[in-house]
Amino acid sequence: MKEVKTSFEYSVFGSIDELSAHDKELLQQARSFTSTAYAPYSHFSVSAVARLVNGEIVKGTNQENASYPVGLCAERALMAGAAALYPGVAIETMAISYDGEGNSNDSPVAPCGMCRQALLEFGNRTGKPVRLILSGKKGEVFIIENAASLLPLSFSKDDLRKNS
Ligand code: THU
Repeated sequence: MKEVKTSFEYSVFGSIDELSAHDKELLQQARSFTSTAYAPYSHFSVSAVARLVNGEIVKGTNQENASYPVGLCAERALMAGAAALYPGVAIETMAISYDGEGNSNDSPVAPCGMCRQALLEFGNRTGKPVRLILSGKKGEVFIIENAASLLPLSFSKDDLRKNS
């Protein structure tokens, strides 16, 4: 028997002003894009804005539904759009922000489990890990260099092919 430890690192910035000009611009866009979310049930609007490696900007917001499980998160809305518009093109960085009713919106939120799995697949299929910028409408900013690090011991395409 052996014990295995995994760890993950991320950077914490005091505010958007500490970011590089490129990252700052992306987060600013994410912060202002929450208004296009369709979140009449949770009143929690999430926006994701990505810069692709070809320089294009792609955006997504959460899209809810009266049949609750049908709703789609902002991150997966973005990735579906990016893959359809620019097939095979990797994401360089994705900024995620949110606006929650009754929430101070001043601390970062991280992608849900399903989005972590989708981010992992997106990185694998495009050959480049997705870099994340997480922040509320104000306050601290987290940068995670590889979204896959949010999902240790993950399941991916390679597992389907393993010989017994
Ligand atoms: N949501 C996202 O869009 N992304 C996440 O990573 C977490 C949750 C959305 C789903 C739902 O519309 C609302 O936030 C509340 O869970």
